[in-house]
Amino acid sequence: MRFQNTLQIGTTGMLSIAGEWLAAHSEKTTVVSRTPQLFTEQLNNHGHRAQSISCNYNVPNQLQDLITNLGTNKYDLILAWIHKGAVPLLEEISSNCSTDRTRIIWVVGSDFHNPAKEGTNKRTERPSLPDHVSLEIVVLGFQIECGRSRWLSHQEISQGVIGALKTLKKDESVIGHTKPWSSKP
Ligand SMILES: NC(=O)c1ccc[n+]([C@@H]2O[C@H](COP(=O)([O-])OP(=O)(O)OC[C@H]3O[C@@H](n4cnc5c(N)ncnc54)[C@H](OP(=O)(O)O)[C@@H]3O)[C@@H](O)[C@H]2O)c1
Repeated sequence: MRFQNTLQIGTTGMLSIAGEWLAAHSEKTTVVSRTPQLFTEQLNNHGHRAQSISCNYNVPNQLQDLITNLGTNKYDLILAWIHKGAVPLLEEISSNCSTDRTRIIWVVGSDFHNPAKEGTNKRTERPSLPDHVSLEIVVLGFQIECGRSRWLSHQEISQGVIGALKTLKKDESVIGHTKPWSSKP
């Protein structure tokens, strides 16, 4: 599997193994976070072609600068873990920066499956994307072992995301479990 030009948002922490895998399978990759430089330096030292864009997406003028910086660059794959404002950001990026078959892998927290949020925006909000852009949502769940539950490790999160990157066109998948909700740690 080989990607041309990929965009990673929020992959410098728990998703760093997945971010490195993506860089290794991309002709070039761009990493967006508040301080992505160390991570991209590491990617470049490992022989990948990575550049960074610093942006705090909670600061409106930095968000606007990000949109300007991305311009009309075309990305065939976008991997995003975004704490706040993900839906409008993904909509904006996909309308300017998509190819005729861009995939977006959107990683979301367990709360995405919280039954208490059913029927609320939080539970149902999805970005409206152009027809040629496919959205794959990866929900972070929890593990149940010997009757006890625990949150996912960073390794499990990244491996689950790599699995999604390798598997084309699955609308939604869960790493671990989100049911029964009462079992969450
Ligand atoms: N099962 C679940 O539902 C679930 C869900 C979420 C988290 N977790 C756990 O919670 C822990 C912490 O999660 P986390 O998201 O804080 O860790 P993280 O993935 O390690 O860090 C968040 C990522 O987003 C970037 N980021 C954060 N705020 C940003 C902003 N305002 N603007 C731009 N980029 C920003 C960070 O880079 P910069 O610092 O460079 O900006 C980093 O790349 C993890 O250990 C994980 O296991 C579990």
